[in-house]
Amino acid sequence: MPHLFDTLIRCVTLIDGSGAAARMADVALRDGRIASIDDAGAIDADSAAHVVEGHGLVLSPGFIDVHTHDDTNVVRQPEMTPKLSQGVTTVIVGNCGISAAPVVLSGDPPDPMNLLGHADAFRYPDFRSYVQAVDAAQPSVNVAALVGHTALRSNHMDRFDRAATPAEIAAMRAQLEEALQHGALGLSTGLAYANAFNAPTEEVLALAEPLAHAGALYATHLRSEFAEILDAMDEAFRIGRHARVPVVISHLKCAGVPNWGRSTEVLDALDAAQRWQPVGCDCYPYTASSSTLDLKQVTSDFDIMVTWSEGAPEMGGRLLAEIAAEWQVDLHEAARRLMPAGAVYHCMEDADVDRILSHPATVVGSDGLPNDPLPHPRLWGAFPRVLGHYARDRELFPLAVAVNKMTGMSAERFGLTERGFVREGYWADLVLFDPNTIRDAASFTDPMQPAEGIAAVWVNGELSWQQRQPTGVRAGRFLPRGAQPAA
Ligand code: ZN
Ligand code: CU
Repeated sequence: MPHLFDTLIRCVTLIDGSGAAARMADVALRDGRIASIDDAGAIDADSAAHVVEGHGLVLSPGFIDVHTHDDTNVVRQPEMTPKLSQGVTTVIVGNCGISAAPVVLSGDPPDPMNLLGHADAFRYPDFRSYVQAVDAAQPSVNVAALVGHTALRSNHMDRFDRAATPAEIAAMRAQLEEALQHGALGLSTGLAYANAFNAPTEEVLALAEPLAHAGALYATHLRSEFAEILDAMDEAFRIGRHARVPVVISHLKCAGVPNWGRSTEVLDALDAAQRWQPVGCDCYPYTASSSTLDLKQVTSDFDIMVTWSEGAPEMGGRLLAEIAAEWQVDLHEAARRLMPAGAVYHCMEDADVDRILSHPATVVGSDGLPNDPLPHPRLWGAFPRVLGHYARDRELFPLAVAVNKMTGMSAERFGLTERGFVREGYWADLVLFDPNTIRDAASFTDPMQPAEGIAAVWVNGELSWQQRQPTGVRAGRFLPRGAQPAA
């Protein structure tokens, strides 16, 4: 006799993604979706082809990594082990103004598009071809995508140190519109980066105009995360109001020693804006940032670790200050010789990260850099670190709140329909974890370590990770933008 259900996950502590407190339940899956949620012990074990005993474990929606740079990796390394191993079932790519599509390069990818790979990784002249490539690669996690402003600039401008002309803006808009037609979630910018910094606000205002009609959003790596952060937030809010779309501030932080302690002020500005328009932010749970090595961020105020360098490859893994001392040059000169390069900057303070992560408008995004040979540990550890270190050990917020910040709130904000909650009829993206042992194992010196305490992960109803191993099933798909995000 055929079974009523494909999988039954029995007697779990269910945290459903809404922020509601845990309850005991049985959850049954069929045809990729959550078919039934019942009181623990109420669903007959014989009714399912596979039965998983969940005693003592938490079942929650699969984690949604709203801030990634996995654009080319979901195609090139579809196993997506750094993410699947921590319970992530959906990644949002195309952040910080850089996306793999739509892109046509004439040489090497400009900084920071080089974070996504070398020239041969950029194969998607339009967004549609990227969608097809993701579906053909069948990654282990679902993929949704933003379109990057710097990527569009690179397609249409001969140089980056100026504003786009009206004709260039029109060409960029046409590409953005094609992407929105094929399900892009919205537009991202990385205005702090040299290759976007000379784009005036007016350029972004004009480019953002098609977003509202598509129900899309605007995500931004602010023009400054340092002293001028409030001005940069005002600029982002202005763009959101002009385009009539929700604003997401990417990896909100107070970077740089003179900026430490300003998170209260920054979050007050976010709260004030929320009275007029939909705004939110994401945050990764660490006091160190990471990106390409950037002269503007070079300082002796905190440690800067070089993670890779084309100028001096043997210096990967060493502190910039050590390298400068060895070469008998100042920090800026050392940085110049190392470039292009990647770096980890220990530029934040605990109290600011605590405040931002706890804020009710904050969701979790890893900002992991999968092509870095010595990646910041957030790539493998961000989600378990929020659940283990921040929720359980430091009691910064209840576990159900932590889960909401990585599932339900994230899905609503980005318009990922029928995801992010354990609800009957929703897609069965699920993670089963041990709340007592879940822990990020990745460190700055040993960053490529899978998390501990993840018992099983299902993507679209398929068991994809179990007992520290991939099952070999890769059930992710491209997720086009769904209904308009909740305001
Ligand atoms: Zn960024
Ligand atoms: Cu980023």
